[in-house]
Formats: sequence, C-alpha cells, structure tokens
Amino acid sequence: MNHFDLRDGRLFCEGVALETIAEEVGTPAYVYSAATLRRHYAVFRDALAAEPALAGAFIAFAVKANSNQAVLAILARLGAGADTVSEGEIRRALAAGIPAERIVFSGVGKSQAELAFALGVGVREINVESEPELLTLSRLAAARGARPDLAIRVNPDIGAGGHAKITTGAGESKFGVSLREAARLYALASADPHLNVRGLACHIGSQITDLSPLAAAYGRLADLTRELRASGYRVDRLDLGGGLGAPYFNSPDPPGPDAFARVAAAAVKGLDVEATFEPGRVIAANAGVLLARVEHIHARPDGRRFLVLDAGMNDLMRPALYESFHDIRPLAPRPGPALAYDVVGPVCETTDTFAKSRLLAPLEAGDLVAFMTAGAYGAVMANEYNSRRLAPEVLVDGARWAVVRPRPTYDDLIARDRLPPWLGA
Ligand code: LLP
Repeated sequence: MNHFDLRDGRLFCEGVALETIAEEVGTPAYVYSAATLRRHYAVFRDALAAEPALAGAFIAFAVKANSNQAVLAILARLGAGADTVSEGEIRRALAAGIPAERIVFSGVGKSQAELAFALGVGVREINVESEPELLTLSRLAAARGARPDLAIRVNPDIGAGGHAKITTGAGESKFGVSLREAARLYALASADPHLNVRGLACHIGSQITDLSPLAAAYGRLADLTRELRASGYRVDRLDLGGGLGAPYFNSPDPPGPDAFARVAAAAVKGLDVEATFEPGRVIAANAGVLLARVEHIHARPDGRRFLVLDAGMNDLMRPALYESFHDIRPLAPRPGPALAYDVVGPVCETTDTFAKSRLLAPLEAGDLVAFMTAGAYGAVMANEYNSRRLAPEVLVDGARWAVVRPRPTYDDLIARDRLPPWLGA
C-alpha cells in the first residue's frame, strides 16, 4: 500500500496535490512519501518479528536504492541500519544519523581507501567478496590494530530477479565466492588474529517475485553454516541480502514480506543465528514517483502517437537499461477513451523510450504525469547526459513538503568543468 492516490480527479501524495509541487518546483522532479517509507519499513520489520527464528533480525536498508539524506533520516529514526557499497554511501548513512554500528559495508571492489575508512569509523560488518579483499582487509586491520567483524559473501550459484541484468547469484556473476571457496576463506579468516569472522552473506538478485530461488539459496547458506560449525568454526550471523520484489502494477503482485519472512525463517530455524536483511526496493520503490510534463504530442501519419515528456532516460534509467515497466498516471486524468502512446523523453537516443503503445487517458501538451514506483533506483541512477540537470527531489510528510535536493542551476553545471591553463582566456 502507498500514499499516492486520486482524490477528486487529482493525484495526491499524502496531503499534497502533486500538481502543487510540479508548479512550484518544476518538472522533472522526484517526490517521496514519508508515510509510505515508514509503512513499508514497519510492514517488513513486523513480518520478520512474527517469526521466532528471526528474533533479533537486523534490517540494513540498501542505500543504493535511494540515498537521499531525508529518506535515510526517516529510516534511521525507525531504527534501520544501512547496507552500503562505497565510502560515499557510508558517509551519506552517517550524515543521515545511522550510526556506524548499524552500517554494513558490502561490494565487489572495495578500494583500500574505502576499507580503511570503514575500519576508521568502525562499521558493524564488512561483507568480504574475495580472497584478495580478505588479505587486504587483514593487512589494513593489522596496521590499525583493529579487528573488524566480517562475513564471507557466498555466491550460491542460484540466480534470481526481474531481469538478467539484475541477477547477482548465478555462478558466472562477479559477486561473492563459491561455496567451496567460502569454506576455505572462512578457515583463513578464523585463523587470522586481525579478523573476527562472524558469518556468511548472500544476495542473489533484485525484483524477485518467486521465492523458491531464495529458499534454495538460503538453504545452501544454512548447509554451509552446519558444515563450518561441524569443523569447529563459529558462525553466528547470516546476512540474507535483499531482493524482494515490489509491485509495478503490470503483473500480479509479488509475494509480500510475510511470505518472504516465512521462507527466511524456515531456512535458519534451529541455527540460532542473527539474521540480517538488506531490503532496498521493497521499502523505497512505491514510496516515490517521478513527475514529468508533456512537451507535446507528435502524431505520425501512420497512426503512431509519441508522447514527448520533459523527463528522459537520464532521469529514470530503468526502462532504457532493463526494459522496466513503470505505471504512468496523469496527475489530472481527462475524461475520454484511453489512447495508445509511445512515451518518450527528449534525450537523443532511441532507447530514451519509457513505453510503447501504452494505453493512457487522453493527454495534451502541458499536462502532468507521474511515473509510479520510482522511489528505488530512480534518482540514484540519474545522470546529466545531454547536459540535462539532475531532477530535484521532494519529500512529502502529511500536509508538509520540502525540497530535499534542489535542481542544480546551469551555472552549477557549467562551473564544474575547468579549462586547462593553455586554453584559458
Ligand atoms: N544487498 C546487496 C548486496 C545488493 O547488491 C542489493 C542490490 C541489495 C541488497 C538490495 O536489493 P533490493 O532489495 O533493492 O532488490 N538497478 C537495478 C537494481 C540493482 C540491484 C543491485 N543490488 C534496478 O533498477 O532494478
């Protein structure tokens, strides 16, 4: 459930008409609903809490899904931790009020500087993805006299997810080490006085709508846990990653947090481990929309109708990258039969196409629309291609709203480049 709904023919976010924001802030613009973020977090947390096997589970919001400080601050106040994959994300989480003891540092290519930074601030856990990373971490920890908590990220050779490009758990993908390697690295880490290996981690993909691959992957992690314990190693944490799908409204709703929690609980039952979860999309996706304005409608003699928007693939990359579906809703739907539109942006690329032959209520130049389910992997993946400025971000909380990242000015855009002295005026 989210807090974007039509009231008297106008699309609202909580107590604010989205038109008001579009008029005052301009378009394109991202809008987030605080109530929806709070609700999604609570539903996820309560689903875990209902499973005794998941008692004490730790939730680390995947900052990559939405790293706006305001979004992180809302989740921080609910007690959420953060799953981070760069120094920038760690810094954002800290700045938003998530303490280091609640920050997990994941990622396939952490630099030495980033690992040193994570050690310096004392993050909760480092999820190590390869032997070279383990050796580097050991050396850096020894040099600082630190003994970081870590988990070994396993690639369970089970891929899942809404698109091949967002699958991470297949054997050939770059993430984590094989089960066999994991046992060897675990032994290595356990024997290292500078490392405190706590457990295993996995994350097999994103937008997962069928829970069976997750059950299988968790089962492999549980088997490895028993094996390691039988060899005398301590395993007291399992990081089960993120990946649960969010509804995008073009197919049946994916299983909810309850069903997901049951699957996780069944896998860890009897192991007496502290489970960590790293949800991103399921918390943030339906808590955000991208507002856009219709520039014009370009009707071709062959009957094709292009709805040309002021938002482009640089603002919302998902359709161009993964052929993702985003529901498109007019902010004030006009009466009349739906028409088929090819919905495109202004960027000079054929792939700047959000939807083909999409049936929408009739639209006119100047009308406003919202791309739904854009709160996760939306603004964070935006870029300035075609020298387009990044879309601003707005947070609504009840009847209040605030710009939580302003649109850069053209001066900001230009001032970032430097002419070398020999080309200067
Ligand atoms: N943990 C790790 C280690 C991850 O790599 C990810 C996402 C998550 C947690 C959060 O997964 P979620 O709960 O959000 O599915 N840009 C793509 C999604 C890429 C996800 C990458 N990893 C998209 O727009 O669909």
